[in-house]
Amino acid sequence: MADDKLIRAENLVKIFPMGSSQVTALSQVTLSFQTGEFAGLVGPSGSGKTTFLNIVGTLDAPSSGSAFVLGREVESLSHREAAGLRNRSIGFIFQTFNLLPVYTAYENVEFPLLLLKTPAAQRRKMVMDALDWVGLADRARSRPPQLSGGESQRVAIARAMVKRPPLLLADEPTANLDAENSHHILQTMEKLNRQLATSFLFATHDEKVIGYLRRKITLVDGRVTRDENCRPRGAEGTEPC
Ligand SMILES: Nc1ncnc2c1ncn2[C@@H]1O[C@H](COP(=O)(O)OP(=O)(O)O)[C@@H](O)[C@H]1O
Ligand SMILES: [Mg+2]
Repeated sequence: MADDKLIRAENLVKIFPMGSSQVTALSQVTLSFQTGEFAGLVGPSGSGKTTFLNIVGTLDAPSSGSAFVLGREVESLSHREAAGLRNRSIGFIFQTFNLLPVYTAYENVEFPLLLLKTPAAQRRKMVMDALDWVGLADRARSRPPQLSGGESQRVAIARAMVKRPPLLLADEPTANLDAENSHHILQTMEKLNRQLATSFLFATHDEKVIGYLRRKITLVDGRVTRDENCRPRGAEGTEPC
């Protein structure tokens, strides 16, 4: 069924086998996200945040229930179709950056465009634009070992954003960053959310990230216990998260 919403999860259940027993990571989670959101799943470690992101990102399948992402039902996609949806439409940012250490910042950011077979001239402009968005155009030739943690995460953001995906999933993106770099990358992501209309969904238990969210969804033991709209840092109106 087509859906004009960004994400719609209905009664999502995820059960992992654990030896002779099992772990329920998600328990009847029903959530919708609209285009343009800057939203976060928050909750203690083990509450199911990563599991939800992985299902929405088509990296894992639910045990039951359904998830529609950008109008496609995740369950109905073949491996090839799921890979196509990820390559074209979903950017990922992880806590460990996951850059390829032997390639330059430029080459790391270029990688998703090679998968998409983007023509060379267009590729060059897109890579340089993306490095520019994160303030690292002058580090294009540096390799990850020569970059700080904050710079590495900014390269990872550029790589996730280079194809201008409608949806960006960020799993604990500040876990390996100090406070100053955390604020810097959050401000960058907020800017990209506004300027490129990219929707952001975070999984985090970092108060610094939570302060930037416009919507906070609390997960406890795989269940949604709260879903609040909130006032991001520096803005007026509703209560802060
Ligand atoms: N691949 C897996 N195999 C077994 N258990 C898992 C797996 N992934 C997650 N879990 C379990 O599912 C629960 C939710 O995990 P997760 O989604 O990673 O939580 P969070 O991201 O909120 O810390 C935890 O109890 C975790 O141990
Ligand atoms: Mg997690």
